[in-house]
Amino acid sequence: MTTPTFPEGFLWGGATAANQFEGAYLTDGKGLSIQDLMPKGITAPPTQEPTPDNLKHEGIDFYHRYAEDIALFAEMGWGVFRFSIAWSRIFPNGDEEIPNEEGLAFYDRVLDECEKHGIAPLVTISHYETPLHLAREYDGWTDRRMIGFFERYARVLFERYGHRVKYWLTFNEINAVLHAPLMAGGIWTPKEELSKQDLYQAIHHELVASASATRIAHEIDPDIMVGCMIIAMPTYPLTPDPQDVLVARAIEHSNYTFGDVHCRGEYPGYFLRTLREQGVELEITEEDRETLTHTVDFVSFSYYVSICATADPSKGEIGQGNIFAGVRNPTLKESEWGWQIDPVGLRIVLNDYWERWGKPLFIVENGLGAKDELVDDAGADGGKTVHDDYRIAYLNDHLVQVREAIADGVNLLGYTSWGPIDLVSASTAQMSKRYGFIYVDRHDDGSGTLDRYKKKSFAWYKNVIATNGASL
Ligand code: BG6
Repeated sequence: MTTPTFPEGFLWGGATAANQFEGAYLTDGKGLSIQDLMPKGITAPPTQEPTPDNLKHEGIDFYHRYAEDIALFAEMGWGVFRFSIAWSRIFPNGDEEIPNEEGLAFYDRVLDECEKHGIAPLVTISHYETPLHLAREYDGWTDRRMIGFFERYARVLFERYGHRVKYWLTFNEINAVLHAPLMAGGIWTPKEELSKQDLYQAIHHELVASASATRIAHEIDPDIMVGCMIIAMPTYPLTPDPQDVLVARAIEHSNYTFGDVHCRGEYPGYFLRTLREQGVELEITEEDRETLTHTVDFVSFSYYVSICATADPSKGEIGQGNIFAGVRNPTLKESEWGWQIDPVGLRIVLNDYWERWGKPLFIVENGLGAKDELVDDAGADGGKTVHDDYRIAYLNDHLVQVREAIADGVNLLGYTSWGPIDLVSASTAQMSKRYGFIYVDRHDDGSGTLDRYKKKSFAWYKNVIATNGASL
């Protein structure tokens, strides 16, 4: 049997988000985003004002160190770099008419660096960083006017960068709004007080805005490729009991909805049933229906964990997950943060999405959050390194399954591992939950030099890319 291979031109790289690594939270006219009031991520309610314990304010200072960091990415041989644009750098409040030129100029500089190194950018338009003003004054995506603000923002980006950026994502992990309405939907109303009616109307507004951005991009340049981005979390029935299978299916459906609308241009029947059962009546205009038909060019997703589901809660124990959790799978091990590790689940997701939507796929997040120890090593650049064999094992196991999925016939454009340089965690806002190939000397208490050091996984990933996956 021959070993399957990755296709020629496969895009290898890494993925980041502005609010988790840029820092410079008030520099060059930037406005506040919701993240500037979320010093504990989604583990605590937002603060009323920015507080000094918020690690995102300085991040890892990518805003000033982007050239040095992109040079390190290039050294690994990247073909693609996923980053997000901070909406509040471009429109500090979100509802202005005129964009902030200094914010736009920053991303020109980032793109210059990418071009210098031959790295293709993959840009997320909105990654958990809604301008704070839009959250507080409009209650985020519950308000229909958000569609217009987003369209204006997206149009500015496509007109400014469309000739330099081929790959775009509209909303990061759009299905996360079901579970983290503030972080993913800019919805200021506390989750416990948010009505189903408002939540689903917000989802509808985001879906229309996403389709509208796709239409605008294609009008400006038909070669632009726009993708949706969803959290992939395969949900297995805990037992073969058909009732467990049904419950697992319902959870899958709640996530499929977002891909179904993005790929098919209309709401699926099972979703309409959910609305009916919850007494929700969506306001959907004729124009909305037309807009939704502007479907995406590809489907991207994050993958970290799988979960189980059961109709009988007494049978299972709830575990941890990315933004949302499920029943623990007794057959799997877990990370230090309780996220269960399931490389085969990635092959299952790839096959499932490819068969369901028939659109090219892009894995735009995957990785292991772990506590790393920086140790002295005379042979390493800078005299220090991290021996992160656990991270290498995690990534290697997942990429082997990706290779299997490609052999199964899945059309996959590329793979960007999450947090290729240590950055602030989205869920917990910790620095100690590290994902990178590059260690950043910054700690949960805000101390550290911000110096960068290559971990052992740096050379490993470089070799994977150089051999186009043959070294796995
Ligand atoms: C995804 C997000 O949920 O997972 C990222 O798109 C996030 O923003 C990543 O950082 C890993 O999650 P965490 O909570 O460990 O940072």
